[in-house]
Amino acid sequence: MRIELVQGDITTRAVDAIVNAANSSLLGGGGVDGAIHRAAGPELLEACRELRRTELPDGLPVGAAVATSGFRLSARWVIHTVGPNRHAGQTDPALLASCFRESLELAESLGARSVAFPAVSAGVYGWDARQVAETAFDAVSGFAASRPDSGVELVEFVLFSPGMVEAFRRVREG
Ligand code: APR
Repeated sequence: MRIELVQGDITTRAVDAIVNAANSSLLGGGGVDGAIHRAAGPELLEACRELRRTELPDGLPVGAAVATSGFRLSARWVIHTVGPNRHAGQTDPALLASCFRESLELAESLGARSVAFPAVSAGVYGWDARQVAETAFDAVSGFAASRPDSGVELVEFVLFSPGMVEAFRRVREG
């Protein structure tokens, strides 16, 4: 599995699945969530409302992941995950690791070969960039080690600012 760092807007990435840093309601928001909904079009919100009417009546739990079509995005799927919110006292790194692991498990089951992640929880949810980078790298390399024959060949961390790229680069270089 290749892991790449990219600075840019995740909605423009030509990968099979992009991961959305959603909230439990799945009904949209700001940041990555807002950008993905804007780029995917209104059908994405309708698909999320359908999930709330059916399999997720109480919303998506922190650390869990669920997929929808990507609609107008070039990505075939959007994998929605809910990061821990530091402002709500959710400070356990295992919750954030679960976002990355569950999203990769789901991507694998869908048959996605390439997945783009944002820096989940590093924005509105207030987590420190370095801790997000450490948790993300650990979770993705742990998944790769446990699944040597995984169909997921490429994981991109798509970072929105030079500072975030630097934080991830420092962690990768150890
Ligand atoms: N592409 C890539 N990264 C982006 C983009 C984008 N288009 N827009 C924002 N980011 C970056 C932010 O700069 C931050 O580094 O994604 C990271 C995650 O930030 P948020 O989107 O705020 O996500 P999070 O911290 O997980 O908070 C989730 O915010 O938008 C709401 O509905 C969302 O309630 C949820 C909460």
